[in-house]
This record gives sequence, structure tokens and C-alpha cells, in this order.
Amino acid sequence: MPVSTATTSSKKTDWAASYEAVLQRIDALLEGEDDWIAAMATVAGELHHAFDYYHWTGFYRAVSDALLVVGPYQGGHGCLRVTFDRGVCGAAARTRQTQRVPDVEAFPGHIACSSTTRSEIVVPVLTPEGRLLAVLDVDSDLPAAFDETDQRYLEHLCQKLGAQFAGTTQR
Ligand code: SME
Repeated sequence: MPVSTATTSSKKTDWAASYEAVLQRIDALLEGEDDWIAAMATVAGELHHAFDYYHWTGFYRAVSDALLVVGPYQGGHGCLRVTFDRGVCGAAARTRQTQRVPDVEAFPGHIACSSTTRSEIVVPVLTPEGRLLAVLDVDSDLPAAFDETDQRYLEHLCQKLGAQFAGTTQR
């Protein structure tokens, strides 16, 4: 099934349908897969190319209870290491809650990997037992680019990833 790509830059079209399509495609691509790194790379690529308001899309891996290290991503360079006490990614890892930030400049401690980033959403990937595998970080150059629809679909995706890769020892 073709994935409908690119909404408009003002994001006024039906992006829920695009999420349905891209999540279905990710499901199919990851069927039977048990390599967590391959899965993260696949998810980052699929999401990044499905939405034109996604400008950096990728994962930070929880390598300890205090440190995130960059994983597979699409976009310009990302900071390599983020401790749990820093930035939006750190807040998501620490609180285990999605962080939806409409204006990154108003977020205390935001880490500006790119000066063009205006908004972002970070969703934790937790196993059903509550082990943090990673966070999914999406940054946009548009202000307030992410709404409840983005959050709902990305949380659904991360919940499924946490269940499918609950047994991984890859970090
Ligand atoms: N914006 C993130 C840092 C990661 S990069 O933007 C890719 C943050 O403040 O956590």
C-alpha cells in the first residue's frame, strides 16, 4: 500500500490518514524482526519521509539510568549524548512521559542541536515491564508543529515498539 507522503508545510491536510498509513507500513516492515537497532533505523526513515514538518527524526538510546546516546536518525547532526537532567529528551527519559514542546525557546534547558528547531515532541519507548529502551525525538522548524494527533500516533507506535523489543539486550 502506498504511503501518502508530505502534507503541506502549514500542516492543514489530513495527517491522521498519513499516520495510519505509515504505521501500517512500519508494522509490515518490522514483522518478525528482533533486531532493535534495525527497527529504530527503519522507524526513523519511514516517519521522517512521511511528514514534511519532521526535520529531525530519531532515537536516543537509554544506555544507563542516567544517559541517552544518539541512535539511528534522519536529519542534520544530532547531539551525541544527553544526560537525563538535560533538555527535552532528558525530561522524557526522567519522567517517562511524552514531552510536547510548542516553543523550544520557552523550555528550560532545551538543547539546541539545530538553531532552526522551533518545536519538538519526545516520546519514551518503555517495555511492558517499565524498562526504558529509548526515546523517540522529532524536531520541527515550524512552531507548534505537533498536536494531540501526532502525540496519540507516536505514543501508540512507541508502545508497540516497547512490547515487540522488550527482550532486547541491545542498547
Ligand atoms: N532537542 C533535544 C536534543 C536532541 S536534538 O535536538 C536532535 C533536547 O533538547 O532534548
